[in-house]
Amino acid sequence: MENPLRRGLVEDRTGDACAVVIFGASGDLTRRKLVPALYNLAVSRSLPNGFAVVGVARREKDHATFRAEMKEGVSKHSRRKPIDPAVWSDFESAIGYVRGSFDDPQTYVDLRAHLETTDAERGTKKNRLFYLAVPPSEFGVIVKNLRDAGLVEPGSHRPRGAEAWSRVVVEKPFGDDLASARALNDVFAGTFDESQVFRIDHYLGKETVQNLLVFRFANSLFEPIWHREHVDHVQITVAEDIGVEGRGKFYEQTGVTKDIVENHLMQLLCLTAMEPPISLSADAVRDEKVKVLRSLRPMERSLVQNNVVRGQYARGFVRGEEAPGYREEPDVSPSSRVETFLAMRVFVDNWRWSGVPFYVRAGKRLARRVTEIAIQFKKVPHTLFRAPDGGISPNVLAMRIQPDEGIALRFTTKEPGQHTILRDVAMDFRYGSAFGSNTPEAYERLLLDAMRGDATLFTRHDEVEEQWAYIDRVFEAWRAEANAPPPLYTAGSWGPEQSDDLLARDGRRWRKP
Ligand code: BG6
Repeated sequence: MENPLRRGLVEDRTGDACAVVIFGASGDLTRRKLVPALYNLAVSRSLPNGFAVVGVARREKDHATFRAEMKEGVSKHSRRKPIDPAVWSDFESAIGYVRGSFDDPQTYVDLRAHLETTDAERGTKKNRLFYLAVPPSEFGVIVKNLRDAGLVEPGSHRPRGAEAWSRVVVEKPFGDDLASARALNDVFAGTFDESQVFRIDHYLGKETVQNLLVFRFANSLFEPIWHREHVDHVQITVAEDIGVEGRGKFYEQTGVTKDIVENHLMQLLCLTAMEPPISLSADAVRDEKVKVLRSLRPMERSLVQNNVVRGQYARGFVRGEEAPGYREEPDVSPSSRVETFLAMRVFVDNWRWSGVPFYVRAGKRLARRVTEIAIQFKKVPHTLFRAPDGGISPNVLAMRIQPDEGIALRFTTKEPGQHTILRDVAMDFRYGSAFGSNTPEAYERLLLDAMRGDATLFTRHDEVEEQWAYIDRVFEAWRAEANAPPPLYTAGSWGPEQSDDLLARDGRRWRKP
């Protein structure tokens, strides 16, 4: 019998006809994420009929070599395996390659010629989705050259299928601090209007993250208790068991604060704390997220000491295997002070959340990979039962973003028997058993949305600036204390003990996710 919950999983959304132009086509992201995502969109028949992918990079290679490399990437990283030969052969014919430096105008002359052929041969209708899978230092030069080569159509708010459009998708990190994020916003604003700029935070493309909005605003049960009267505190954890995975050079520049907290974690916080938007339009949703960011209590220097904990992993064991310390990783300074763990106590100073702490933490080389948002409700006002452990555990609603995606509600019950013995149990919803586990990857959703011009799951210019404004203050405080080395924690643990103290001071403790 067909599982009714699976209905709707078959995609019926397709993008507009377009060419996806990937700058940085030789990079890891293209092979691991972008092309496998496009291939999976092809499998679910979500790609438009008029479609092409064009890789742009410095290395000399022909179309055939590029296609072979992409095939290898898809074979390894696609969520659907093995590759379907019929789909691949069709998909592969849409892939092309243009060689050139990003600062050489000739590259754009060649790209233009290639795209004109593509329009004629593949019906891509002069629509271009430029994907900047390159470091931010390259954004400016690419955007300028695209404009000078006449490859950018103005504005994109046009009826679907009317005139040609150009859009640009920008990878994170979007800047390094508020000033550089503003400068990048200016780079894009000089050539594109905001509706054409799609700043990626791949967490927003995750099914479980999108479900936060549905869970909160399509159920009448939870919203009435989603505020300071009923919620004791909120915990958000983004824990990874992996280390920096050969990206030492990058990580030395970012640390966990700029890599995860400033973007992914703050987005989870926004979706948890935001007010209901007036509609699901991109701006309505983003307006509400920006309000949350503006309500965050600024991390004044005096607050950082009691509200922020850093850490750096030292040698230890993760999943039974010995793991090196951060400072022993390739391309990492042996005296690095970069933080690989951050925990913070954050306050959202508005009517709904006044006085409710949000404890957030993120880190590498923690005990296990888990991302979850846990809402802990207040204790019952009066205890009727004499429980042996002295009390009743408060209710907790845990939304597991990954892995083992699901939602669990913890509550107290009576154990069967003559005595009144209390026991915590959980009502547990699991995506895997309800819907099957092969859900679309974040990049599939995000690429398709960009092809359709839907920016709801992308960050707006003011959002990204507010995120940086908050994080900048934390860095200012660290600089003021001469950037003291972060406390160490053993790889495979849950971070430095100061992280536990942060909650213990308030009489609380981290959940064991
Ligand atoms: C990326 C970070 O944005 O997110 C990585 O740069 C991190 O350091 C990754 O590992 C985590 O993504 P996911 O989807 O595996 O949670």
